[in-house]
Amino acid sequence: MSPRRSEKGKPLLPLKVTGTGSFLPEKRLTNDELAQFLDTSDEWIRTRTGIRTRHILSPEEIPATMGIRAAQRALTRAKRSPEDLDLLLVATNVPEEPIPGTAPHIALGLGMGKGAFADVSAGCAGFLYALAMAGAMLHAGMAETALVLGTEALSRFVNWQDRATCVLFGDGAGAVVLEKGQGASGILGVALRGDATKLGLLRIEAGGVRLPASSETVRAGKHFLQMEGKGLFRAAVGMMAEATRAALNQASLSLAEVDWLIPHQANLRIIEALVKRLRIPEGKVVVNIDRVANTSTASIPIALDELVQGGKVESGQILALTAFGAGACYGTVILRW
Ligand code: ACO
Repeated sequence: MSPRRSEKGKPLLPLKVTGTGSFLPEKRLTNDELAQFLDTSDEWIRTRTGIRTRHILSPEEIPATMGIRAAQRALTRAKRSPEDLDLLLVATNVPEEPIPGTAPHIALGLGMGKGAFADVSAGCAGFLYALAMAGAMLHAGMAETALVLGTEALSRFVNWQDRATCVLFGDGAGAVVLEKGQGASGILGVALRGDATKLGLLRIEAGGVRLPASSETVRAGKHFLQMEGKGLFRAAVGMMAEATRAALNQASLSLAEVDWLIPHQANLRIIEALVKRLRIPEGKVVVNIDRVANTSTASIPIALDELVQGGKVESGQILALTAFGAGACYGTVILRW
């Protein structure tokens, strides 16, 4: 199917982002601290990934508590209350519990009222999938005020003895409030994609229907995140570049018209290769992986919130948000602020 193109100057899905918010747990874990119990070093982690430190959830916190804090910040900035929300979409990879997932916990903690809420699972691209779904629902008149958030605590699912995975991830949450719009701002282009032949590159094998939890699955370490880092690295740049070109094409925009590129923060070398491939000037690229590591579905909304709170985003600017992850789901959303 060839997508409907945005007429120049007219959003495909009109909306306004009226508030952004994020939350990072207080506890930080530096590379040097990791090197105290793992066979690794600050030098290896920094040069291979760009990560210096990451935030880790305390035992008392859960993804919902992070999501609620990020949502409250976004709602305050949007001058909205939780009762105003008629849609909450929560992008997350590992739900609070198998049933009922994370969104109801966040809706309850926020005091959301009667609106719709659901989890969206699409790997690290989940936030972009949820953003596009919320934009389409606003446009279709199915909602007027939506909150889209990503919250992730992969620190609870990595094997802290596996240096190839545990050094890469951090915990956090990020949120945006979206409101129905009529002006020039909104989603101009969307390219959501997947390559299911790559679903084995990143997975937690046990704990679902296919391989229910048993003493055997626990002994075999099948509840930990497993990743083929090299395979993901090779696929990531091509996926994000292709989706970004497609979404810009739908928006009738060129790469030169992008004011800010916000890529999923999985590895600084992946971001650098993407930027080189797209020939986007470094000054337009948002990078915070050194401080937060890979926060999966929370990565883009955290980076977006930092950019907005830093006073860097101006009305009318073009933002390209792009991500890849488990599934392998990937995609790009082009926003006019
Ligand atoms: N410290 C020291 N050495 C390490 C570490 C570590 N933390 N981790 C791996 N090594 C070793 C390996 O054991 C290997 O040793 P060997 O040569 O003796 O076997 C050596 O370093 C090289 O390992 P490689 O895997 O070749 O290292 P590479 O340069 O590919 O970097 C990395 C690994 C960082 C995982 C990289 O492949 C990567 O970033 N891949 C993409 C990962 C990604 O994007 N994941 C998330 C996507 S989805 C989501 O966001 C949820």
